Amino acid sequence: VRVTFVDVHGVEQAVAGEGDLSLMELAKANGIDGIAADCGGACSCATCLVHVDPAWVDRTGAPDDVEYAMLDMVSDVAGDTSRLACQIRLTPALDGLRVVVAQQ
Ligand code: FES
Repeated sequence: VRVTFVDVHGVEQAVAGEGDLSLMELAKANGIDGIAADCGGACSCATCLVHVDPAWVDRTGAPDDVEYAMLDMVSDVAGDTSRLACQIRLTPALDGLRVVVAQQ
């Protein structure tokens, strides 16, 4: 699955990963700046916040209740496009995904 990240410095990086990965795990594996992921993917830190390109929101889907509650606690949330990267599983349908890493 190929994903383009725009990191916190505005630098665009296209990376690819194989297997059952979350978007956060792919970002960490490729050293994307701005994805701290302090809780390791437990949906409890919100330091993996990204803004999904609006063209992809239908495919990334909506946050579940737990993620929604976390998103409610962070400031840089821009409606439906804001997601926690650890809660997005990279399925083949997301090949080509583009996300902007949130400023935190
Ligand atoms: Fe902590 Fe995503 S890594 S909420």
